[in-house]
Amino acid sequence: TFVIALPCVDVKDKACLDECPVDCIYEGERMLYIHPGECIDCGACEPACPVEAIYFEDDTPEPWRPFNTANDEFFTDL
Ligand code: F3S
Repeated sequence: TFVIALPCVDVKDKACLDECPVDCIYEGERMLYIHPGECIDCGACEPACPVEAIYFEDDTPEPWRPFNTANDEFFTDL
């Protein structure tokens, strides 16, 4: 699955929303999150983000690894 990381926080550009063919990107209070069960790994959102907040989960830069879990938890906490 793809995940959204730190650069999205308080930016929320939302260019990614227009690219997602399965509408698996959801808005939270300070950032957006990708639903891990709905993401089809197409990668369409990744280049669309102007602040490079989106990564394939294995490629998330080390300091932002907690965001892999954060995307997951956003949906389990609902
Ligand atoms: Fe956030 Fe980038 Fe989408 S800033 S809302 S991940 S286009």
